[in-house]
Amino acid sequence: MFTAAEIASLNERFAAAPTEDILRWAWARFGERAAIGTSFQGAGLVMMHVAQQASLRFPVFTLDTGLLFPETVALRLRLADFFGCRIESLEPDLTVEQQANALGPELWKRDPDLCCTQRKVLPLRNRLASLDCWITGLRRQQSDARAGTGVVEVFVFDESAGQEIVKLNPMAAWTREAVWDYLKTHHIPYNPLHDQGYRSIGCAPCTGKAAAGENERAGRWTGFHKTECGIHTFMAKKT
Ligand code: ADX
Ligand code: SF4
Repeated sequence: MFTAAEIASLNERFAAAPTEDILRWAWARFGERAAIGTSFQGAGLVMMHVAQQASLRFPVFTLDTGLLFPETVALRLRLADFFGCRIESLEPDLTVEQQANALGPELWKRDPDLCCTQRKVLPLRNRLASLDCWITGLRRQQSDARAGTGVVEVFVFDESAGQEIVKLNPMAAWTREAVWDYLKTHHIPYNPLHDQGYRSIGCAPCTGKAAAGENERAGRWTGFHKTECGIHTFMAKKT
């Protein structure tokens, strides 16, 4: 994979680089072994558009927990049409009903970490095993926990198998305002829930509206000491 020195030098090179340059590097280095993971929020949509305009045909996937808002499910179809691409849905082993039978109803109300592990982390880990590079829409401005996000990072995602992956965050430096300017300028379809006061949108049972002045992800898992679903924290950071 990469040495710590190579990662440091890539981060220096990409510190002020346009997203397109970062994606071009990933395409040249990994081709279809790099994939964009998106929940169809602003940053993911910008990346999909930049990649499409530059003819970089990364596979695109989304984690479909079976608990998404109908608006999000409908948006996936609109986006596949708009971008003319396939958007792969990664689903958990158990349906929501099977999970209720196995682990009790409404697991998200009792143990959201376990619910996120079953419905997001494990399906994601399976997909990462067939990739060399995972491209995300993480932005530093989203929360304190994300303030240190690097453009290029290396993670060990399966310690027992010693499997590593490059995590690429080409949107790390973007502000929320810049993302929305881009979406509006290019007339990109977005989740209509954003116009109803939702800022960060995930599964319906765990997403609320954030109050003015709160951080962008404040509406997620309200009432729990939980701010991350686990897909960005289950792996051990190497560099
Ligand atoms: S999350 O941790 O709360 O789910 P957030 O919604 O801020 O994260 O998204 C940050 C990045 O995580 C996205 O840009 C995307 O790369 C990845 N991500 C989050 N949710 C999903 C999902 N459902 N499917 C695929 N990728 C996702
Ligand atoms: Fe379950 Fe909520 Fe996590 Fe979705 S966000 S997987 S409903 S705990």
